[in-house]
Amino acid sequence: MELIQRGAEAVIFLEKRKGKEFLIKERIKKGYRIPEIDKPLRKKRTRSEVGLIEKARRAGVSVPIVREHTDFKIVMEWIEGKKLKDSLNSFTKTKRIRIYELIGEALAKLHSNGIIHGDLTTSNMILRKNKLYFIDFGLGKISKRIEDQAVDLFLLYEAIEATHLKYKNEAWEKIINVYKQQYSKSKRVLIQMEKIKKRRRYRGE
Ligand SMILES: Nc1ncnc2c1ncn2[C@@H]1O[C@H](COP(=O)(O)OP(=O)(O)O)[C@@H](O)[C@H]1O
Ligand SMILES: [Mg+2]
Repeated sequence: MELIQRGAEAVIFLEKRKGKEFLIKERIKKGYRIPEIDKPLRKKRTRSEVGLIEKARRAGVSVPIVREHTDFKIVMEWIEGKKLKDSLNSFTKTKRIRIYELIGEALAKLHSNGIIHGDLTTSNMILRKNKLYFIDFGLGKISKRIEDQAVDLFLLYEAIEATHLKYKNEAWEKIINVYKQQYSKSKRVLIQMEKIKKRRRYRGE
């Protein structure tokens, strides 16, 4: 097993099984939480992440296939590709626009099926061939609330601002364009997102 990343909540390993590569995401013990809280919490988050990945798949979003899972561990398909965070800025305009459409499409599918991703950044999107995979549903939840969807969008907006500033306007315009076409409640979500934006700016957050 090869250690890929040691994050705050989970360690990520790459494992070869019968010549195939799998990614293992294991939620690690947190010393500052008492075991009576820590264990059920890790279990709950692991189970929730699996549930959301599977629900997203049924909604038609490209996500890794979950092979198996235990209380704290998820074994899933390794998506070999480029993280969007590290690749978007070097793409041609045509390719960037294709990606924005894929993001808008996926968002529309997630939200119309009651899935909040919870951490929509380009670090959690991997491009493999011509599919854009969404990973890391660890902060996600099931909700159809307009407010939750607006926060989800707002996080993406901020992530784009932070990582792809020079493409912010083109990216947002295209993503939202597709989102509007493909999600019936998008208008309400966008109005709510504008409110969140103003609230945050006003408070200087
Ligand atoms: N299925 C996957 N295929 C390929 N790489 C992955 C996969 N899942 C996670 N990764 C890699 O591991 C990193 C951390 O995984 P992630 O689920 O985002 O956990 P964290 O909650 O720590 O951000 C990702 O940014 C990505 O580089
Ligand atoms: Mg992540």
